[in-house]
Amino acid sequence: MSTPVTLDEDRAHLLHPLHHPSTYAATRIWVSGDGALIKDADGREYIDGLSGLWNVNVGHGRRELGEAASRQMATLAFHSAYAGSSNEPAIALAERLSRLVYPSINTFFFTSGGAESSETSFKTARFYWKALGKPDKIKIISRHRAYHGLTLAAMSATGLSAFWPMFEPRTPGFLHIDAPDPYRFVNPDPGVSLGVAAANKLEEAILREGPETVAAFIAEPVQGAGGVIVPPPDYFHRIREICNRHDVLFIADDVITGFGRTGRWFGLEHYGVEPDIVQFAKGITSGYVPLGGIGVSNSIRDAINNTPAASRWMHAYTYSGHPTCCAVALGNLDIIEREHLVERAAQRGARLLEKLRTLESLDGVGHVRGQGLMAAVEVVADKNTKELYPPQAGLAQKLTNAMLERGLCTRVAMDCICLAPPLMISDTLLDRMVDTLGEAIPAVLNAVASELSVR
Ligand SMILES: Cc1ncc(COP(=O)(O)O)c(C=O)c1O
Repeated sequence: MSTPVTLDEDRAHLLHPLHHPSTYAATRIWVSGDGALIKDADGREYIDGLSGLWNVNVGHGRRELGEAASRQMATLAFHSAYAGSSNEPAIALAERLSRLVYPSINTFFFTSGGAESSETSFKTARFYWKALGKPDKIKIISRHRAYHGLTLAAMSATGLSAFWPMFEPRTPGFLHIDAPDPYRFVNPDPGVSLGVAAANKLEEAILREGPETVAAFIAEPVQGAGGVIVPPPDYFHRIREICNRHDVLFIADDVITGFGRTGRWFGLEHYGVEPDIVQFAKGITSGYVPLGGIGVSNSIRDAINNTPAASRWMHAYTYSGHPTCCAVALGNLDIIEREHLVERAAQRGARLLEKLRTLESLDGVGHVRGQGLMAAVEVVADKNTKELYPPQAGLAQKLTNAMLERGLCTRVAMDCICLAPPLMISDTLLDRMVDTLGEAIPAVLNAVASELSVR
């Protein structure tokens, strides 16, 4: 940056995601990163406990990704990838993904991020059923506590109600079922496992709405922003059965769980099932440049290819298949493969979870969970009833601040402290993250207890 910038200029000219002026006091200006560490404008260093926003999978400071971008920009800055026009990095990336992504998915469309990918999935699901002569199959079912982005249809699929009120009405035709949360889901049917009971909620919803009206079910293999909810092992098998039985497409939102985060390339690999559509973003470029996309099954690809030109798949973004973004993605995939980061995420994730479980004995730690390098510690007011702290306790902000003061940057969602560090993080830094939680949680809970008793 040639001239120094200030927070006053930020306040005067910049609207932030989830903007509100009350957050300015806590704003840090991030200036550099190296591996799993980031530095602010005051020169303080922090562990990047959430890999930015769950995306910097290969860590910061990878010069080769800058060089890949620079080479491509110097060769071809941009040209349309609309039908009848293509570019080399986009072709190479789609071909490479066809070998990495679920075996039944071989055809890809690129976007600029997660929400555009959600929109593309929903439109493609509706297109597919119209192409097959079932034009009434339009509804999309998702889960409470899901996050699928914040454009209007994506926001309507997102199951975190705090995002809705000031933007209502939501897009019609979107509905939600319960999340398969092993900690909080109350199994209404003792005859079946919690995973099957949670999946059966989908069948109930499809039957209630009428299968002839439902286009697709969308699910994150592990719900990220909703508090890292790892479903029971039998959940997705049952989901796949239900989708098959009722002709409902299954969309996997692998925006966070793709590209190694959970210790497998893609999240549903843990469950041995495949989706009809997979959507991705974040880790495909490790956040170095914006890129997302969807992959579709062969039967969806055939429906798109076999439709008469007059009713073609009229979906497009200017930046679909952007050459620089695709070139950076190819370089990022090289790093993930060369450094065996998927396997490392599995090993380091097992270590992280084991260490985090030592915190379960602390007052206020209700549940610890994770898969690969994606974990959460849920803080509760009462471990027996699982009751959360009242909103006026301001617990999430206090926990975030207490961790920042101790050199750990991460996010707290509904009193779940989320952890998803870069996949190359060292054991030493992993252990330091756990130690930081071990100090910050009791310190914050003691302060909150005395504040609440004074009120
Ligand atoms: C699972 C999931 N889907 C979609 C999105 C939306 O992505 P974006 O913010 O790039 O639009 C996110 C973002 O966090 C996400 O976690």
